[in-house]
Amino acid sequence: MCGIFGYIGPQQALPLLVEGLRRLEYRGYDSTGVAIHDENAIHVHKTVGKVSDLQRILPERVEGNMGIAHTRWATHGGVTQVNTHPHQAHDGSVHLVHNGIIENFRSLRKRLEQQGIECVSETDSEVLVQMMALELANGAEPLEAVQRTVQRLRGTWGLCIMFRDEDLLICARNGSPLIIGQGVDEMFVSSDPHPLTTHTQRVVYLEDGDLAVVRRSGITMHSAQGVSSTPNVTVLEEEWGESDLGDAPHYMYKEIYEQPDALRQCIAGRVDREMGSGRLGGMRLAHDTLVQAPHVRLLGCGTAYYAAEIGQMLIEKMARIPAVTHISSEFRNNDPVINPKALYLAVSQSGETADTISAVKEIKLKGGQIFGVVNVVGSTIARLCEKGVYIHSGPEQSVASTKAFTNMVAALTIFATQLGRTRHLSKDQGRELIEHLQQAPHLMERYFDDVGPITEAVDLLADASSVLYLGRGLSASVAKEGALKLMELAYIPCLAYPAGEMKHGPIALLEEGSPVVVIAPNDHLKAKTLSALHECKARGAKIILIHEAGDDIASEGDVCIPVPAIHPWLTPLLTVLPLQLMAYHTALRLGRDVDRPRNLAKSVTVE
Ligand code: M6R
Repeated sequence: MCGIFGYIGPQQALPLLVEGLRRLEYRGYDSTGVAIHDENAIHVHKTVGKVSDLQRILPERVEGNMGIAHTRWATHGGVTQVNTHPHQAHDGSVHLVHNGIIENFRSLRKRLEQQGIECVSETDSEVLVQMMALELANGAEPLEAVQRTVQRLRGTWGLCIMFRDEDLLICARNGSPLIIGQGVDEMFVSSDPHPLTTHTQRVVYLEDGDLAVVRRSGITMHSAQGVSSTPNVTVLEEEWGESDLGDAPHYMYKEIYEQPDALRQCIAGRVDREMGSGRLGGMRLAHDTLVQAPHVRLLGCGTAYYAAEIGQMLIEKMARIPAVTHISSEFRNNDPVINPKALYLAVSQSGETADTISAVKEIKLKGGQIFGVVNVVGSTIARLCEKGVYIHSGPEQSVASTKAFTNMVAALTIFATQLGRTRHLSKDQGRELIEHLQQAPHLMERYFDDVGPITEAVDLLADASSVLYLGRGLSASVAKEGALKLMELAYIPCLAYPAGEMKHGPIALLEEGSPVVVIAPNDHLKAKTLSALHECKARGAKIILIHEAGDDIASEGDVCIPVPAIHPWLTPLLTVLPLQLMAYHTALRLGRDVDRPRNLAKSVTVE
């Protein structure tokens, strides 16, 4: 979604801003712009399209040591140049970029109109810059102007504001992440830690309600009410770095094939083979907490939700305590009952998904214990939860989540093992599982050595008007993940169902030639899944069967894709791989933008 980058210091701002925007591109956006402050004026350049389109319209040289930049993912107002950020005040005194949504912008805009100020764009963001300019015109200092403005807002914001007559930037945060990178005699501002890491490891994370005055020489922190505080400098724990495409044709392709190594990173040092247990240090789980937990509840959206569902089933299998998965966006609305002894897990790749953040806040407010299962180090969810497990997938830049899914599943498997060992899981069962988990990266590699007839599967999928995905147990969630991948990348309507439920409705969709993807690993549910497969076949459906090598069902599908055999509780780590490849290659066949599917964003930072 929207991205912010800002700079103040001795260097030329423009190249730094463009590079910052480029590193924010993976978040998904539809237009982009920069504003550069030279000694006398502020120069704004913006365009609909990509950062490369912006580069094409930039003048050869734009001097200036301070600037702000933005990638916009439209919420209020269409994708037009005038709606693109940075926005500027009617008198040119203030420029800003904004992430988030101002809920009361209509009434604020009306009030501006009554004062003779007409906004030129349709955005909620422009009202802010106009309000600040009015405050300045009435004699307020820049910080006061921002304080008075944000006091009147309802909604979410991450703001980076630049003033024509001042050598400083002001940042404000409420619900939309913003981080200041501290260099030597220079400062960087970003909505994402990722673009900061090439410049500095010393960062200040703004918390909700914070305002920061950013000068070359330092940062001062304030609240909207005027209380000042000392900035809390964090040293980024690890170099997030930029994921280079290298020889790979797309980020998604690269990330699919990175899964074996990513999985190794996730498992390393976190399993105790001898004790047959997990060792998730960052969760700081006391033995009593594990033993006394009455139930576990997991939260996530999209791919994270499906990974959480798999975690839920594994927790019930291993620990024999109830576990429930919730879609984050529904959680808070239903006024959930929170048990302080229960364990709550927030699952998220980005750690910035607004729906999951609000669920985390709800749990904390009601006294629950919440743990993050997050990829991006230092992200909002990771910091809000304070305790948790980083899944260590490395940067995932493609909008479609792949390596984060398998690592979420792995991290949750380790958690389930640790919980299980305090209860019903025997040492031998734990050891067997851990051994197989450690084998999983190698088995993934074995699958990638021979991915099977993906092209034949794509032949069936590419022309389909809809696709049905079926699985049972753990594979029902893998089916949902496979359907989501094909839908978001190829724009083909997909339906995923637990295989047994198929005859209660979706079977009506089937006609001669309808593709049905069946996930049937060699577990105790295989025979039942096969019954559903036969019911589909009998109605003329074309079956794409994902199964385990060496089983006895290799001839049941029209296209059969074997994956290496593994422990029945770990099959999602392998059965999802052909589904990712099928979605990727179908999207390519249809000429889709694989890494940047239409309308989607990498981090969904608005509710
Ligand atoms: O960053 P998160 O894991 O919290 O994101 C959740 C979803 O937005 C995300 O998984 C989305 O569904 C992906 N595009 C799926 O590929």
